Amino acid sequence: MKKNKHAEIASTHSRLTAADALVIFGVTGDLAHKMIFPALYAMAKHGALNMPVIGVSFSKWSLAELRKHVQVSIKHAGKIDDRSALAHLLSRLQYVSGDYNDTATFKALKLALGKARRPAHYLAIPPSLFSTVINNLGAAGLATNARVIVEKPFGRDLASARALNKIALSVFAEDSIFRIDHYLGKEAIMNILYFRFANSFLEPIWNRNCVASVQITLAENFGVKGRGAFYERTGCLRDVIQNHLFQIVALLAMEPPAYQGFGAVHSEKAKVFQAMRSLQPSDVVHGQYAGYRKEIGVAKRSDVETFCALKLFIDSWRWQGVPWYLRSGKSMAATAAEVLVELKTPPQRLFDDSAPVDGRANYLRFRLSPNSAVALAARVKRAGKEFVGDQRELYLLDEQLKKETPYERLLSDAMAGDGALFTHEDAVEAAWAVIDPVLDIPRTVYRYKPGSWGPKQADALIAADGSWHNPILEKEKK
Ligand code: BG6
Repeated sequence: MKKNKHAEIASTHSRLTAADALVIFGVTGDLAHKMIFPALYAMAKHGALNMPVIGVSFSKWSLAELRKHVQVSIKHAGKIDDRSALAHLLSRLQYVSGDYNDTATFKALKLALGKARRPAHYLAIPPSLFSTVINNLGAAGLATNARVIVEKPFGRDLASARALNKIALSVFAEDSIFRIDHYLGKEAIMNILYFRFANSFLEPIWNRNCVASVQITLAENFGVKGRGAFYERTGCLRDVIQNHLFQIVALLAMEPPAYQGFGAVHSEKAKVFQAMRSLQPSDVVHGQYAGYRKEIGVAKRSDVETFCALKLFIDSWRWQGVPWYLRSGKSMAATAAEVLVELKTPPQRLFDDSAPVDGRANYLRFRLSPNSAVALAARVKRAGKEFVGDQRELYLLDEQLKKETPYERLLSDAMAGDGALFTHEDAVEAAWAVIDPVLDIPRTVYRYKPGSWGPKQADALIAADGSWHNPILEKEKK
């Protein structure tokens, strides 16, 4: 988005200058391996990696071992197709081994940073270590003119998010805290914002007068993939609903930003979370795929949810009374993410086959992954004497997603000091406040078959307003 003078006032992020070093805490871990190194390699290919990259970890590795590990990671993510970019990345690497509780580690880091004056500290470490590292960065004088990049989930409930924000803000300014939700770096999700506000036809119908319900599905056809221990502490609500799915809701539900600039987008999104009604136990269905308890790192009697379906309301003028159904799960029938905004049926049933008799009412569908699509569904008459027809989809967009991964985009933005696609303290806390009442409470977790669309109790949750739209199955019908 373009910025005007008001945006300059509101979006303080735009004033940060580029970072001159990247420090990765947890450099030997899973996140660095899967996401950060491939992103750095892509940045090197695009000429955007011009700073030292200093890895920090407990592991007693040599620099040669780290370099080897980086190459393996890049190979794992795709193929090495640019040797000079790889050599460039490897030449930028340094390694500091040490305990995050030990001030000596931070002294060694200071030494490694040399002349760098504006480091970016990426906390690719378990959330339980965030406060230790943040406090030690502050104590070592490594937070001055620096920024910190933190992964979701930011906290594990409202109280811990508040505590974490407090610690982070005692050492870093809000505009120097980059909270990553990689969904915000996805092309198809950025398109929701564009599509809503670059068109005028949508606004008159985008409210409780015309919208009957909204549903969002994020399904994955694989299990926890060796992340059992992480998942046991997290569960589906914390892993993807409070962040990824809520961010999608915010973009769909927000009011138009009052001016050009992401400062306005941030504050409109935060208002959506603030207007969301807190969830009650009866609004949520928890599921667990059969076999989850046999995964490595998972308790034999675990009741952690690998599936979640929920019904929520946004108590705003625009959305009063419109149900929002969110659903996500591991080991489901497909890997896809999709939004379906179902419109109300015509006020009078003039034709025998009018919805809801024959399927869904008109809708707008946003496919978010694996491809990016926007389709508008409307009924048209079949040729012949009878007044019967079919609902057809008009595709406004249907394309494969571009190669730039969200991590490349977000890491480049954080290094450049552009906070547009990161989440803010007020929004994060308001989102936690919505799900807080249903976290860690006694609940029934329904077993579901891997490869299915989750437990049947989730169908009952939506039954009063229709049925779940299963992304792949609908597509295959075409
Ligand atoms: C991550 C979650 O944040 O998002 C994972 O921790 C999940 O459990 C992933 O699989 C989904 O992201 P994407 O980009 O693959 O849809």
